Amino acid sequence: MKPVKIGLLGLGTVGTGVVRIVEGNQEDLSSQVGSPIIIEKIAVKNTEKDRVIPIDRAKLTEDPWEVIRHPDISIIVEVMGGIDQTKEYILEALERGKHIVTANKDLMALHGSEILAKAQEKQCDVFYEASVAGGIPIIRTLIEGFSSDRITRIMGIVNGTTNYILTKMSQEGVSYEEVLAEAQALGYAEADPTSDVEGLDAARKMAILSTLGFRTNVELKDVTVKGISTVTREDITYAKRLGYELKLLGIADRIDDEITISVQPTMVRQNHPIASVNGVFNAVYVHGEAVGETMFYGAGAGELPTATSVVADIVAVTKNLKLGVNGLKAIVPYKQKRLQSDEQ
Ligand code: NDP
Ligand code: HSE
Repeated sequence: MKPVKIGLLGLGTVGTGVVRIVEGNQEDLSSQVGSPIIIEKIAVKNTEKDRVIPIDRAKLTEDPWEVIRHPDISIIVEVMGGIDQTKEYILEALERGKHIVTANKDLMALHGSEILAKAQEKQCDVFYEASVAGGIPIIRTLIEGFSSDRITRIMGIVNGTTNYILTKMSQEGVSYEEVLAEAQALGYAEADPTSDVEGLDAARKMAILSTLGFRTNVELKDVTVKGISTVTREDITYAKRLGYELKLLGIADRIDDEITISVQPTMVRQNHPIASVNGVFNAVYVHGEAVGETMFYGAGAGELPTATSVVADIVAVTKNLKLGVNGLKAIVPYKQKRLQSDEQ
């Protein structure tokens, strides 16, 4: 059984979880896909840094191109973040016929169309389950589970850091600054946590979910955004006295063919299930014309929950490799690009 070789870009919170799961569940993963999955090479910023797991230093490099150009690597797992430079790495990897697994919502929200069109052209897989709602398999669910329905609303808590902050402020009266530092230490926050607290991370995720759910090309500029950086403990206390919890909610509605999407701090009645989604947990409501209301709940950030989604994507790509169908079942929901590339 020839091993499937992975190139990892990044060994931070998520990358570490990926190594733990791939190595820890090797036997089960191999039996699912019919060959061992090996992490062959890992790009990091600093090869000298102490790591929280034992790592063969010979696998580390500070040059991501070494991973992208490695002839034996067939799947690039991008868990380092970043937009413009990272897009170059991904496009070059696709050009070389390598499949992509990424947790990068910033990249997918901004350049998903271009990346997926390239993947389609090269018959490569690009899977990005971990990019939205960490351990909840919401992307697969929207694409496959609801393919028969017309979705009219997607609503939820899609940022773990801000939900962790609001929960701690509400339940323990901790200050915003203190709890933000805690969320960073736990590995929930983005490298620049401004995107969490100002709502941009949630907006990017809502753009991805809306694109997939409404099967149309939603862009970030279509999302109205307000974050939680100006929310005070007093706001939370008053909301509670009135019978509400304050949550950073993403709401995407489709009425006829009009789509409106917003991310903002919202008063949620305490008896609504979303009011009791606490800590790093996320919840996504999907309303379809035929199915009615459904709800998906789970850890929205953090090492192992996120890595679960990444490794599930690796398994999916590997199964496609075995069947020789990579890119054929390509999920290219970005309609305009799909039509353009189909016409060529
Ligand atoms: P971290 O900051 O913990 O890790 C980033 C990793 O990438 C580090 O290992 C770093 O190297 C490496 N890296 C950064 N820049 C470069 C570069 N230019 N060249 C080589 N290596 C580089 O990030 P996370 O693991 O938290 O997040 C990674 C991605 O996953 C992001 O896109 C994030 O949005 C996404 N994500 C994160 C979640 C989470 O809970 N943390 C959940 C869902 C998605 P070094 O270790 O040497 O510093
Ligand atoms: N910073 C993000 C969050 C990571 O807190 O939700 C998961 O995408």
